[in-house]
Amino acid sequence: MDEKKAITHVFNLVSKLYDNPSLRFFPFCAEKMVAYAKIKPGQKVLDVATGTGMVAIAAAQAIGGEGRVQAIDLSENMINQAQENVNRVGITNVDFHVMDGEQPDFKNDVFDIITCSYGLFFMPDMSAALKSWLRVLKPGGKIIFSSFAASAFTPQSDIFMNNLAEYNIIPPTPRWLQLAEEALCKNILEENGFIDAQVTQAQLGYHLNETKDWWQAIQSAGYRGLYEQLPQEHRADFQIKHLSEIEKLKTDKGLWLDVQTLFSTALKPE
Ligand SMILES: C[S@@+](CC[C@H](N)C(=O)[O-])C[C@H]1O[C@@H](n2cnc3c(N)ncnc32)[C@H](O)[C@@H]1O
Repeated sequence: MDEKKAITHVFNLVSKLYDNPSLRFFPFCAEKMVAYAKIKPGQKVLDVATGTGMVAIAAAQAIGGEGRVQAIDLSENMINQAQENVNRVGITNVDFHVMDGEQPDFKNDVFDIITCSYGLFFMPDMSAALKSWLRVLKPGGKIIFSSFAASAFTPQSDIFMNNLAEYNIIPPTPRWLQLAEEALCKNILEENGFIDAQVTQAQLGYHLNETKDWWQAIQSAGYRGLYEQLPQEHRADFQIKHLSEIEKLKTDKGLWLDVQTLFSTALKPE
């Protein structure tokens, strides 16, 4: 399976599980992105890799009835879930499209803002994506993307990877490490024609109440792709062993989930 098909497959699989309390950093991130980007009433926003639409909803609220959000994702099931979420809260100024964020099919110079929350690092050619986003932004328009820092999800993620290795599944280097440092984010923005690149970091983490909440997080987002590589007959044993190791990390506050996040902004030259 090619990379994009594999990613689409994983997100199609998790779309119904995605909006759950163990992954509440996604809506936290959406609120921060809208604030950091200073999204204003009346603006036209493109939300790339919208997932279940958290940023699209927050942006739609900020731009009001005079503005409009175009929200795109490769996964049809994530888009369907996003549309349901938008319908549920009665927001009407968002249009969803199943579309590749590397090649958004919009005219030149149409958007005031492009948002992309934890999505850019999934794209095999991040530079091509950024160049295409520059094309569809208005001169002076702004981009904001979020990415995980290297500490995000550790130490649980290291234990997960080690446990998988015991079953001869050797996980690839996490994709987000490509954007896990300020310099990496600034460089890729500037190399692809953006100016005034700035990076802010924030800890969006929290304590999970129970070890099983970590299991829910694994099952409901990108890590699901690695778990799916385990043969069925090993899955129950894997779960018991993995969660017994995770249990040792719990304190009287619960299980800390590190979600250190970088927010990168830049402008298209006038
Ligand atoms: C970790 S989720 C983030 C979703 C959402 N932005 C959020 O923060 O809640 C990553 C999303 O990127 C989407 N994605 C990955 N590669 C993509 C691509 N080339 N074009 C569009 N969407 C893509 C996936 O389908 C998935 O919905």
